[in-house]
Amino acid sequence: MSGGQSAAHATHRTSEMNAISLEETIQKNNKRKKSRTKKKKNGYKKLWLLGREDVNTGHCDISPEGELIVREGNFQYNIHDIIKKYGSPAKIFFPSIISNRVRDLIETFNAYIKVTGYRGRFAYHYPMKANQNREFVLPAVAEGANLETSSANELFLVKRMIEQEKFNTRIRVICNGPKTERYIELIEELRAKGLSVIPIVENATELERLSKFKGEIGVRVDLSVKTNGHWDKQFSQFGFAEHEILALGKVRNLAVLHYHISSQMQHITDFIQLLKRALELYAKLREKNPGLDTLNIGSGASVPYDKRKRLYSGKSLISQIIRSAKKQCETLGIRHPNLIVEWGQYVMAPAQMTIYKVISEKQAYNKGGNHWYTIDGSFINDLTDTWAIKQKWHVVPVNHLHNRKLTHTWLVGSTCDSDDRYTAGGSYIPLPRLEDCDELFIALFDTGAYQDTLASHHCLLSAPIKLMAANGEVKVVRKRETPEDVGKQFGW
Ligand SMILES: Cc1ncc(COP(=O)(O)O)c(C=O)c1O
Repeated sequence: MSGGQSAAHATHRTSEMNAISLEETIQKNNKRKKSRTKKKKNGYKKLWLLGREDVNTGHCDISPEGELIVREGNFQYNIHDIIKKYGSPAKIFFPSIISNRVRDLIETFNAYIKVTGYRGRFAYHYPMKANQNREFVLPAVAEGANLETSSANELFLVKRMIEQEKFNTRIRVICNGPKTERYIELIEELRAKGLSVIPIVENATELERLSKFKGEIGVRVDLSVKTNGHWDKQFSQFGFAEHEILALGKVRNLAVLHYHISSQMQHITDFIQLLKRALELYAKLREKNPGLDTLNIGSGASVPYDKRKRLYSGKSLISQIIRSAKKQCETLGIRHPNLIVEWGQYVMAPAQMTIYKVISEKQAYNKGGNHWYTIDGSFINDLTDTWAIKQKWHVVPVNHLHNRKLTHTWLVGSTCDSDDRYTAGGSYIPLPRLEDCDELFIALFDTGAYQDTLASHHCLLSAPIKLMAANGEVKVVRKRETPEDVGKQFGW
């Protein structure tokens, strides 16, 4: 090999190597850039707690333009675009979330029943009080939910559905709540029509009135177990005391023992304590009531409204319910009862978000120097639990999600009421600075349970428009109220 050749070869190789290393460097740089942008993108998702299954935001993302996205399988909804089209304030709900949650709940219970060898059957009864909107109830029923009612008017909706032949004959309805004469007549009427309807008796007057009822009945017990949830009242007005239930002796057609002690229970141990106590009572009741075969454990299943706080998952809760029920039945030497749950907000809350526009800002002269952001709606009117039970909401910008500079805010509703505000329990809500935004919309998550029926019209504000996002399309399901509509409700 000549030197020249070798030099030429070497030069060729060197330039080839240079080319390779240049290419490698470019690739590396691109990779770094990509991972940096990915990190940045993920950074914003992390910041706003989006894309996380554990806090029910798994279906949420941020568009490259910094706008809130909600996914439904391979469909996606740009919330900012929707609001630009339909205006604010608005409630947007996603029936697919209801379907997924009901399906998942039923499948998970059945799966643990199978793996543990639990011998009772499971039934989910959707408590209509959580959200009676037709568009919320139907997807739950379509996934196999039975129903639970709390009033004559809720049962009237069931009657409507029966008359329209909407139900599979297997559906069962549990009737809770105080039994007015109208309610009992409707229960009797629907039973006569062939519906499996089970009134849950809460006191001696109801027991007497229903003594000739031909179908199965249940009794509600107020278990004397202290729990850590929203309802932790020292004295409960619901159901019989434990000693009263035992004193009833033989109850005609008794099939169900029911309790619902609290909502938003924070610890699985609370569920288990209640369950064990209820099973002890169940065992004693069965001695005189051999037809008793079902334990209805009500609800209390929590929603991670506050996404920074750790909460149990539905799966671990269900697993422990089934395992503990089995163990306790074995200790007590009784047959495994059929189990019912009436989880309401667990299913419905994550299916809806409420959107407002921030219409003005001013300084709050508190220690942290928060800014009041006024919204074009009302907490007292649209999200009444903010006021009633100091509900926490997860607040996320609908646009400008990539803004780096955030300010500490408190939110104010548009009524004149000094209680019409959301201060995240006196802390703050981080949001983009208004000076950096052309306009700013915000979304409050998990507003699908209870808020619609508790809603009101303080200062005669109109209720938000209600939009349904399903199968890739957005539809108006309740129009925005006009001044005439609102006036009419008050006799004008
Ligand atoms: C009897 C009964 N079952 C179920 C529920 C639903 O409870 P949650 O909101 O905890 O799901 C309630 C709520 O008040 C209730 O009273």
